[in-house]
Amino acid sequence: MSTLLKIDVSPRGDASLSRALADVFVDRWRSSHPDNKVVVRDLANTELPFVEMPWIIGANSDPGGHGPVEQQALAIGEEMIAELANADHYLVSTPMYNFAIPAKLKAYIDHVVRLGKTFSVTEDGQYVGLLTGKKATVILASLGSYSPGSPAEGYDFVVSDKPEKQNDGIEPQSSTHRRVRADARRNVDALLQAAKAVFASSGVDAPVREIAEKAGVGIGTVYRHFPERSDLVAAVSRREIDACADAAQILAAEHEPFEALAKWVQRYAAFIVTKRGLAKVLHSGDPAFDTLPAYFDQRLRPALLTLLKAAVAAGQVRGDVDANDLLVAVASLCMSAHNDGSGLAERMVAVLVDGLRYGTKPVARRSGARRQ
Ligand SMILES: Cc1cc2nc3c(=O)[nH]c(=O)nc-3n(C[C@H](O)[C@H](O)[C@H](O)COP(=O)(O)O)c2cc1C
Repeated sequence: MSTLLKIDVSPRGDASLSRALADVFVDRWRSSHPDNKVVVRDLANTELPFVEMPWIIGANSDPGGHGPVEQQALAIGEEMIAELANADHYLVSTPMYNFAIPAKLKAYIDHVVRLGKTFSVTEDGQYVGLLTGKKATVILASLGSYSPGSPAEGYDFVVSDKPEKQNDGIEPQSSTHRRVRADARRNVDALLQAAKAVFASSGVDAPVREIAEKAGVGIGTVYRHFPERSDLVAAVSRREIDACADAAQILAAEHEPFEALAKWVQRYAAFIVTKRGLAKVLHSGDPAFDTLPAYFDQRLRPALLTLLKAAVAAGQVRGDVDANDLLVAVASLCMSAHNDGSGLAERMVAVLVDGLRYGTKPVARRSGARRQ
């Protein structure tokens, strides 16, 4: 029998995305391990003080000499260490807060990282983990996208702090290594921005030299990051998809639900019009583009769905419109051969979006109309 220890962090209960994903993981894990056990450590319901002096004294002294203050300071950590020791697989579900893990999860780590219990230090100063032979899965929910090539890629602490070589101990990256990675990320960022502008002005067949010059990098750098032109086109498309999906969250925070929806649909329409120029190359059958349709669907559908649901809930949009149908309808209007850059697509999309209000009853506006 093996035990899965599920460590939940988000305080958002049923609204939490990381918890919902972890529940899916647990369901699948249970179906493939029917006799096995799941133990839940819910940090949102765990009284977890930050480690302070009694904890430090207790953790670094002989338990025989501990008084009630040290015993109490260490108690919750010892309970959680026992859970870690008894489990075979750890599942951590956590939000990203301010480009890092939430303080509650850091407090958890501070409690369970204990010399002699969960790690030791060899004579030559190497750190060695003591709870060996375990598996760990981490599910992280964030509002923004940090995928490779996205504008915020450099803030992805999951990737940028990952040790290059996995071994039994801990192998931190050197500062030089981090700097090289940061430079590389800046180059990719500049290249993608330049490529987007050059593709828009000169088409996707524009000379690579033009893109390299605009980005301020050597031509070798372009080929190092994007060996084929199709790799560059795919990365630019992916980045555009991310920007469009991310705009949904920003618009939802800044506008009333219908307005946010209308603005986002126009944003999406503008993206489709740009994509029209890329249609030939995107449908060329090049394997670099294989994953793009799924990525498009995976990022844009939930973005629209969230805005649509909010507008329906606010009584500002009819409730029988499917998000997928709307995406397809807008794309069909924008792909029309009659779209000649005169703003026709924008006008047709505006009429379509206005029609979403058909059949709704006006609801009273609350004062202080802006949403959080
Ligand atoms: C205090 C706070 C800080 C946040 N910081 C970030 C952030 O730096 N980057 C980000 O992408 N999302 C950030 N978010 C958004 C959350 O990561 C996002 O809403 C996520 O879905 C929360 O996880 P949950 O749904 O499991 O609660 C932040 C949210 C809060 C409440």
